[in-house]
Amino acid sequence: MKKLFIETLGCAMNVRDSEHMIAELNQKEPYELTEELSEADLIIINTCSVREKPVAKLFSEIGVFNKRKKEGAKIGVAGCTASHLGKDIIKRAPSVDFVIGARNVSKITQVVDKKHAVEVDTDFDESTYAFGEYRTNPFKAMVNISIGCDKSCTFCIVPATRGDEISIPSDLLVQEITKAVNTGAKEVMLLGQNVNNYGRRFGGTDEKMDFTGLLRKISKIDGLERIRFTSPHPLHMDDAFIEEFASNPKICKQIHVPLQSGSTELLKAMKRGYTKENFINRCEKIRALCPEATISSDIIVGFPGESDADFADTMDVLEKVRFEQLFSFKYSPRPHTEAAEFEAQIDNTLSGARLTKLQARHTEILDEIMDAQLGTVHHVYFDELKSNGRVSGRSDDGKLVFVEGSEELLGQIVPVKIVKTSRGALDGVLI
Ligand code: 5AD
Ligand code: SF4
Repeated sequence: MKKLFIETLGCAMNVRDSEHMIAELNQKEPYELTEELSEADLIIINTCSVREKPVAKLFSEIGVFNKRKKEGAKIGVAGCTASHLGKDIIKRAPSVDFVIGARNVSKITQVVDKKHAVEVDTDFDESTYAFGEYRTNPFKAMVNISIGCDKSCTFCIVPATRGDEISIPSDLLVQEITKAVNTGAKEVMLLGQNVNNYGRRFGGTDEKMDFTGLLRKISKIDGLERIRFTSPHPLHMDDAFIEEFASNPKICKQIHVPLQSGSTELLKAMKRGYTKENFINRCEKIRALCPEATISSDIIVGFPGESDADFADTMDVLEKVRFEQLFSFKYSPRPHTEAAEFEAQIDNTLSGARLTKLQARHTEILDEIMDAQLGTVHHVYFDELKSNGRVSGRSDDGKLVFVEGSEELLGQIVPVKIVKTSRGALDGVLI
């Protein structure tokens, strides 16, 4: 059997795109996955281009892979960097055999045997394409509910790499999730660049359905016990959505609310569509209706024009909302984005100092939050067996929890009492 080495960088959409490519390849010819590059017949790098660093790393990685690969093995570049650099990748690195964009993964079997094939059309509509089935984790399914992104955040390259937003018809989603449930998944993660903009436009149907309606429809699926989704946009968090989130028992009480900046002025320059006050108001509403929910966020520091006062606003939102999880980044100018042309680019040392301050304060908050978990009870969905006689899973609110146990726990949702805490995970005992 041929062997496939696939490296997946970036977000959950990329993880799902990799699963789709594996499924499609297997329909043509079975592949065994390998983590040993030198054994692989096919090497795919599924790239991210949201920040500059991983893109720069790509070309050195291609060089290393080309030296270490076995004779005749093929190298393909997929994902967002494939979309935005296209055939230039092959010009710069002729050892690359094919390039396949983030919105063209259904074409993987067409390009894999075609020397120097390039498929990077960002208008391609694969929203109703019936992908083969493959999932990395048998207990959890990831399902795309939309492709592309219709926003125009001035820092973000994604609309240029993944194209316009198209929602996938809800009946197809119900079919796909039902299939996953029938093959052992009790949990689904709904994926999209902007999940709560669902229903803005469908490919090939005139269905009327918004994200709240979709959540209600999906939660009727028998045997499905947990629903997660990523990422929602704060602008589309209306009251009906937050009420559904809080009251629907199948929806896990973990929500990503990407802030980006706490400064209303910078949010305007970013074209995010909300103010500092709107953002805090939405988080307060979530906390009021659903006090057990955890809120995570993304923050960019050093966006062009960011003053000390703008950064202080970001710190202020952190104090007010106390995000349970925070992904924070230094602003990175990207091609095809408006902000890359803005004049007041911020000095790297200053951005670095702000990032350090933000992360240090968040770490203190996180330590307080995790310490407070001692003695609490969580319902944990166990999905991974560790080598040291331990089993891990996620609580409803998304925390990583370990207990002593064996494979009998896998696929079970079980109450656990927390006996030890740390910054990244909790240890518990079954009760
Ligand atoms: N620079 C830094 N961070 C960025 N992100 C998106 N574009 C950029 C950029 N140009 C971050 C945002 C987004 C997350 C996925 O990546 O915070 O929510
Ligand atoms: Fe980028 Fe904004 Fe789309 Fe998220 S919603 S991917 S930040 S453009």
